Amino acid sequence: MTIYYIGNEKKYNALKNKFEKENISLKCYDNDVNPLDVEYALVWNQSESTFEKMKNLRWVSSLGAGVDHLINDINLGKDVIITSIKDEYLPLDMARYAAACILQEQKRFRQYRQLQDSKSWDFVKEPKIKRVLILGLGNIGQKISSVLQGLGYEINGLSNSTKKISGVKNFTKGLYDPEMYEDIQVVINVLPLTNETYHALNEQFFKLLPPNTHVVNMGRGDQMPGDDLLQYLKKNPNAIAYMDVFENEPLPKNHPFWSHPQVMVTPHIAAISRISSVVKQVSKNFHLLKAQKEEQMIGVVDRSKGY
Ligand code: GLV
Repeated sequence: MTIYYIGNEKKYNALKNKFEKENISLKCYDNDVNPLDVEYALVWNQSESTFEKMKNLRWVSSLGAGVDHLINDINLGKDVIITSIKDEYLPLDMARYAAACILQEQKRFRQYRQLQDSKSWDFVKEPKIKRVLILGLGNIGQKISSVLQGLGYEINGLSNSTKKISGVKNFTKGLYDPEMYEDIQVVINVLPLTNETYHALNEQFFKLLPPNTHVVNMGRGDQMPGDDLLQYLKKNPNAIAYMDVFENEPLPKNHPFWSHPQVMVTPHIAAISRISSVVKQVSKNFHLLKAQKEEQMIGVVDRSKGY
């Protein structure tokens, strides 16, 4: 029995070797493979027609936490089980990224690097960064909240249903609730990409931000139309956008973000599911599925919710 791999070649060998130790064969899905032979697949960034002819596909695991690339694929059969990777380290990694963005602004590292270039022993006043809004209070949002609270920040948090999280001012009236934005200096997006969140961080959202609010997008690029962000940055010259996710990845070479002085680009690395966690979870799920214990599989996605 084989799991077919569709994804970045760089990860393939490491994954294959680790799966071998679990007595599972991992093969790259290429032109030599008959799509009808594919029952199990491990997938990231597939092309549009990948699933079209895989009529015997039973289960597809994402290679990461996100599953939007699978849920939104119209060629993926409705009965195919989708699982996401639940890497126990991922929320902390995401929280570190979020904290790094805020601390870099708070402690003015970008400005001090410039001063260093001119050998100036000058001081730059620290900005007021006191309250941070986290959009999405799942595992990741909660971890970000606890790490940022540890650093002394106050937290507003948006969720669908009420969440009682120590120290967090919770909002549940949706993304366009003006109260949620009062007196924040940073907004961090970790919402999953669903029909509701597609293009939701748009002009209407940017209008609600207090002047020069810093923006950290670690959710999905398709939630934030690039032109709307650029307009916002133009009107708010002291705001910085930390962007880890983009509408098109890799970010095209001619995209204005690359050279924009207010945009910090990272190549979707805020947190990457560890190979060892992927292999552990996918192997477990593989054996459970073969033993017809689907209901015990880890990370099964509820397609109606979109995550
Ligand atoms: C990364 O964005 C992931 O979904 O794991």
